[in-house]
Amino acid sequence: MTETAASPPPATRSARTVARPATADERKAALAGLFDRSAPTYERVGVNHFADLGQRLIGHADVLPGDRILDIGCGTGAVLVPAARATGTTGSAVGVDLSAGMVARSRAALREAGLTHAHAVVADAETIDWDAQGGVHPPADGTLDVVCAGISLFFLPHPRQAVSRYRELLGPGGRLAVSWWGRPDPRWDPVFAASAPYGRGGSSHALPEDSPFRSVAALHAMLEEAGYASVETVEEPCVTRFRGPHQWWDWVWSTAGRMFWEGVPAESRERAEAAVNAELDRLRAPDGSLTSTSAVRFTVARAQRSPGSGAMR
Ligand SMILES: C[S@@+](CC[C@H](N)C(=O)[O-])C[C@H]1O[C@@H](n2cnc3c(N)ncnc32)[C@H](O)[C@@H]1O
Repeated sequence: MTETAASPPPATRSARTVARPATADERKAALAGLFDRSAPTYERVGVNHFADLGQRLIGHADVLPGDRILDIGCGTGAVLVPAARATGTTGSAVGVDLSAGMVARSRAALREAGLTHAHAVVADAETIDWDAQGGVHPPADGTLDVVCAGISLFFLPHPRQAVSRYRELLGPGGRLAVSWWGRPDPRWDPVFAASAPYGRGGSSHALPEDSPFRSVAALHAMLEEAGYASVETVEEPCVTRFRGPHQWWDWVWSTAGRMFWEGVPAESRERAEAAVNAELDRLRAPDGSLTSTSAVRFTVARAQRSPGSGAMR
């Protein structure tokens, strides 16, 4: 069915007057709230996006039956579910997420798939330290085979400390597998340019100046400094199709993309949406659909050295 127009966003899509978080803890609390608000619709608007990326990440991580896996920022289970399937009942898979809403979705997805050997806990992925939840304890050092992070690691305020912690948790030959964004589809630049003047600076695309996710070289350098070896990144297309603008709006509000729109002052919302809809109209295919082809990167690194020692284990 061809869509004719983008409908006005529902009332639940409200702008929020929130102070820009200053400290790392405030940023984490803001993200937990953001993803709690996304959780009810994340991956439920009829667009196959994160599930496909999660499946691909598990393929790149080369998960084997019996592997013990930790999934960073598990969200609704896009990585955790295929990880638990790949490791099977002889292994284990634990997902951690700051958002209780997301963890509830992951737990439901695991239950529905009958994956009783996998679990999800509400915890900070930077510390991997929590009081037992449903009998699930934090992993001990040197006990993991795979740490995976699907479209999540760049949200952490201190990714350098986090990957060092994961390296301690991994046993010899253990792998860290991370998916993260490359170049967004340049055809969509005018859409984001049209909305930019209305935002208050908060965007899920914005990376700090010193972020290791600004280039492949910077990410590899960070991982090597943290004691990983054989660091490799492959870049693949991420093609996302929308029936039309309406579905695109639903999708934006179901993802971290809602961060930008929550920051648009109520009095500017209508103008901002109109500016974006005009650009979306230019992007539509003859059948009314919209397609975005961005680049997604999969980086896999092996934990072979003790950090700082230079010694091979
Ligand atoms: C874009 S979602 C990705 C979810 C899932 N991995 C996927 O591929 O669909 C990012 C997730 O990271 C979580 N997150 C962000 N910062 C976190 C932190 N410090 N600790 C744990 N989870 C975090 C968010 O709550 C959110 O669920």
